[in-house]
Amino acid sequence: MKIVINDATIVTSTGVFRKNLLIKDGRIVRIESVKIRSTNADCFIEDKNLLVFPGFIDMHVHLREPGYEYKEDIASGLKAAFNGGFVGVACMANTNPVNDNATVTNFIKCKADSLGLPVSVYPIAAITKGLMGENLVEMGELKEAGAVAFSDDGMPVSNADILRRAMEYADSFGMPVICHSEEPTLSKYGVMNEGRVSTLLGLKGIPKEAEILGIYKDLCIARLTNARVHIAHVSTKEGITLIRKAKKEGIKVTCETCPHYFTLTEEAMLGYNSYAKVNPPLRTEDDVEAIKQALADGTIDVIASDHAPHHKDEKEIEIDKAAFGMIGLETMVPLTLELVRQGVIDFKDMAEKLSRKPHQILGLKPPTIKVGEEAVLTIVNPTEEWLLNEENIASKSKNTPFLGARLVGKAKYIVKKGELFEI
Ligand code: DOR
Repeated sequence: MKIVINDATIVTSTGVFRKNLLIKDGRIVRIESVKIRSTNADCFIEDKNLLVFPGFIDMHVHLREPGYEYKEDIASGLKAAFNGGFVGVACMANTNPVNDNATVTNFIKCKADSLGLPVSVYPIAAITKGLMGENLVEMGELKEAGAVAFSDDGMPVSNADILRRAMEYADSFGMPVICHSEEPTLSKYGVMNEGRVSTLLGLKGIPKEAEILGIYKDLCIARLTNARVHIAHVSTKEGITLIRKAKKEGIKVTCETCPHYFTLTEEAMLGYNSYAKVNPPLRTEDDVEAIKQALADGTIDVIASDHAPHHKDEKEIEIDKAAFGMIGLETMVPLTLELVRQGVIDFKDMAEKLSRKPHQILGLKPPTIKVGEEAVLTIVNPTEEWLLNEENIASKSKNTPFLGARLVGKAKYIVKKGELFEI
């Protein structure tokens, strides 16, 4: 199979250049300044508008299978990932049964492989059995089965000694612990960020301190163990400050934020909008600005979606009973491109935060656009305008506050395993 991509802008973490590409049998064989003639190409693209990125990976996704297939299953989750332009996803362990043993990890991998979609799945195993925060999982067995990291995401590991052991063991296997940093005694019964809007709505708030204390504790244990840790879905200015300082100190910490934390504020909850109910909660303008600053200066390594599908019946109910979470796989590319348009980050940063860094954190080889390398690409039209509606969402669940939004930028193709897939 021969694929020619002429006239595109190639974006990597280190540079942006207009070139012409020839891919043959899955490898990049030519990158040239002159157009490549298409005579015997099986696939041919020539479009000046397109950006060719190394394949994107979303390192924080809830696929819900096994157990919650009414929200999402591996097939629908991977179709959503494909629709959003991802060549890979890492899926969280809060399934039923929990992914705390090799059988579940194997099941997820086998099921994903059997679908034949161009999206790889990298299971993240639980830190503790049943996400109960008490007994550590068998990390060696889980690594062997294909787990790439450990996380009790959705639940913090409250017991600091258990967290310490988890970091020590995971590190001995060369794997990161992904922390859901939250002090649950402060967040309990909370519905949204504690502040002006929660007061206005009469809803119980979750103070920022729930995240700040969580991050502080997780960083302290990371310092104690010298282990590699990754802080999930950072939402607060103060959390960012702690992570920035920890990085300077040499603590082996990386972190991510999600598009909703740099796009929306707590105001999105006005009107009791349960589609904006997410954990950690949407914060204030001040936090959004701090997150943008941290994306710009590299304190935030990764943008991940925290794709959290929930059924309509779990969202369209009293707001205090509604589930936390929103889908995000299919809005990540346009919302991240918005940051580029605002001048917060550039295309190179986008390649770094959606491809190179998340691959690296999970111990996976990042795709590179070089002659001789395997071609794993996400091809984006950054100016295409489209309307997000229930019909064009591939995910089984439609729980996003961006429904009805006019978005700019769309992933158009994926190149993987020697083939060009049109999205
Ligand atoms: O809003 C959220 N939803 N935050 C989490 O940490 C978990 C997730 C879920 O599983 O629904």
